[in-house]
Amino acid sequence: MRRKLPLYNSIQTATTPPGKGMALPQVMGTVYIETYGCQMNVSDSELMAGILSGIGYYLLDRAEDADVILINTCAIRENAEEKVFHRLQHLNSIKRRKPDTVLGVCGCMAQHLRQQIIEAAPFVDIILGPDAYRSLPQAIHAARSKDPFVGLKLDRSEDYADLAPIRKDGVRAWLTIQRGCDKMCTFCVVPFTRGRERSISVPILAEECHRLVDEGFKEIVLLGQTVNSYQAGKHDFGDLLVTLNQVEGLKRIRFTSPHPNDASEPMIEAMANCDKVCQQIHLPLQSGSTRVLQAMRRTYTANEYRDLVAQMRDRMPNLSISTDIIVGFCGETEEDFQQTYSMMAEIRYDSAFMFKYSDREGTLAHKSLTDDVPEKVKIERLQCIIEQQYQISHQINQ
Ligand code: 5AD
Repeated sequence: MRRKLPLYNSIQTATTPPGKGMALPQVMGTVYIETYGCQMNVSDSELMAGILSGIGYYLLDRAEDADVILINTCAIRENAEEKVFHRLQHLNSIKRRKPDTVLGVCGCMAQHLRQQIIEAAPFVDIILGPDAYRSLPQAIHAARSKDPFVGLKLDRSEDYADLAPIRKDGVRAWLTIQRGCDKMCTFCVVPFTRGRERSISVPILAEECHRLVDEGFKEIVLLGQTVNSYQAGKHDFGDLLVTLNQVEGLKRIRFTSPHPNDASEPMIEAMANCDKVCQQIHLPLQSGSTRVLQAMRRTYTANEYRDLVAQMRDRMPNLSISTDIIVGFCGETEEDFQQTYSMMAEIRYDSAFMFKYSDREGTLAHKSLTDDVPEKVKIERLQCIIEQQYQISHQINQ
């Protein structure tokens, strides 16, 4: 059985204090959490909210009002980090007005840019990486005594499976089933900020799912860095889908983001056969050029990806597919780019997240490849695929 921290039922604010007679921990203070980046970060913020609520912190929705401000950050592209540096300067103005305010930077950027944060934002009191959220109470305690706290140890056994997140009320709940990433795509900083892959067991996830249904959620979105590489003991991702599909009262199951290489037969069969699993997949392509895919270490060719999409559409004719694309990766020629452009036209994604390559310190590409596509060309290529995708999405939506 999972051990649960004492929790409030939903996010409480200072204007909605708990009712009389409820067994709640002593009020220790108030906290505001701001989230950047992916759904995994949203889920991690819910985890942090759960940890802090369990020791008597109220969640507020305005930074200005809180004793503790936590920024949960993203490191995937340079502009994600720039945004946070900007925001930190603004939050420092709150600290200047209220010097006892504790300011923490958590998540991937904390893990990735510790030194830069210390130098550019010396007023930050707490720096916590994705595997260090258990030390939040300790970190806040130290910071409140004016003792800065840094927690950046990656821990391949940390899955937070015994902790209960606090989710905003609604229809959809995020459920982290796996943490970390073992894929080592050359462009990607995630394996270095989130560490090695680990999965939470099927019984724990099934129990959590029942609890979510009891709380009123209708849909769950399973989260993992490469969610379909899920492996807990002898259970793979297909097994998990089949098990969760049996949870009574649950209406829909989605997941994000799968890796094409882990899109196994059992996963496809589970998607096709389980009535609660939505026939929708976000399947990152990254590039339509096999040469570039190899440089990215994506471990599939353009044709293998095509075959996979054909196989899935064959089993699920109405499958909705979206993707991620990076343009301007190291060494991408005009011809490589044209292959991406035409592959997107051929597959006709329902939607796509499109990015220009951003060189990230610590990645394999940063160490061994040259970021040689001029910024102007990256922007032109990005605009080109955005325009095409806009047309395709528009036609499909019609
Ligand atoms: N530059 C640009 N885009 C990136 N992504 C990951 N790393 C980078 C990078 N260095 C994109 C990929 C991934 C999505 C989450 O972000 O397309 O699938």
